[in-house]
Amino acid sequence: MTSSTAVFDVSELGTSSYAVACEVRAGLMRPTKSLSPWLFYDEIGSELFEQITRVPEYYLTRTERELFEAHSPSILQEMGLPAAEEQTCQDSAQPAQLRRRVTIAELGAGTGTKTGILLRTLAAVQRNVVYQPIDVSASALEHATKLQVEIPGVVVRPRVANYAAEEYRIDRTAPCRVLALYIGSSIGNFAPEEARSVLKRLSAQLLPGDNLLLGTDRAPGRHKPVDRLRAAYDDAQGITARFNRNVLTRLNRELGANFALENFEHVVIWNPGESRIEMHLKSTTSQTVKLPANSAGPAMHIQFRAGETIHTENSYKFTEASVAELLSSAGFEVARTFLDTKELFALTLAKVI
Ligand code: TRP
Repeated sequence: MTSSTAVFDVSELGTSSYAVACEVRAGLMRPTKSLSPWLFYDEIGSELFEQITRVPEYYLTRTERELFEAHSPSILQEMGLPAAEEQTCQDSAQPAQLRRRVTIAELGAGTGTKTGILLRTLAAVQRNVVYQPIDVSASALEHATKLQVEIPGVVVRPRVANYAAEEYRIDRTAPCRVLALYIGSSIGNFAPEEARSVLKRLSAQLLPGDNLLLGTDRAPGRHKPVDRLRAAYDDAQGITARFNRNVLTRLNRELGANFALENFEHVVIWNPGESRIEMHLKSTTSQTVKLPANSAGPAMHIQFRAGETIHTENSYKFTEASVAELLSSAGFEVARTFLDTKELFALTLAKVI
């Protein structure tokens, strides 16, 4: 890495059509058909997802942003950092580890909009803040890199990596403490076992004194009827439906499949047993879809019964207890939980045990 602009090579990053072909063959040959969520995020899918975060029904992004606005100073104080007005009289009685500079490393950083709020707060109490966004999407990281220009004192060191599947390194060459960020309830898009292993791989490279701030969407409750939860994934403008169906458009375009989009309906189910929202594409008729031969295998005829679904996404919903349990199974301990007044969403500050 030589300069802040030429840190990654975008040309190498398009997901290979071979990977797409393998994934689709495996997913659509199963008795219960499914497609991997990462297939959503082609250029159009990423843009539709940005739009989802702004629809009125999708309270998650908005609520989490409000939590950052209200609690960023408390989050840093809970980590032992001085409040802005005390910064001149550094508490030299603090243990050495707590006196180290905080670096923020973010998994699945996206465009870094919400993180900007925390970075601003940190940059007011600590000179030179290193921000390390880690994401599969290079274009998202290009956005995150702009925070370096917008917030004086912040240096951005982006890294392209699929943190769920491959090795990644948080840079701690200079003595520092790490605040890892994993927000947006992205942890909820993994099944419990996978979620645990994502967090374990993170804690394995953290040290005592380091922290994690985890954003999770909450299970239905007093202020959150199931209908409100479902509506967040089935907005009136139909943007989430377009997002879901876009995966079929992608398969038509990239693999030459012939999915008729009007024959697949966006379906959202609340599964109380698993505490998750499920997104499916339901075949409204009995039909056969053709997938031409490609590098991953011969031509396929995919049969659908009327009413059969392709399971495309899960979004698990949490309670304080289930967050605490997940964290402790991965080597963390809850330090403090920040909730909005309606208890829709949670930011949990945890520390490495
Ligand atoms: N993690 C967020 C959530 O579960 C964002 C998200 C992932 C999402 N996949 C999605 C939102 C599909 C809508 C549709 O809500």
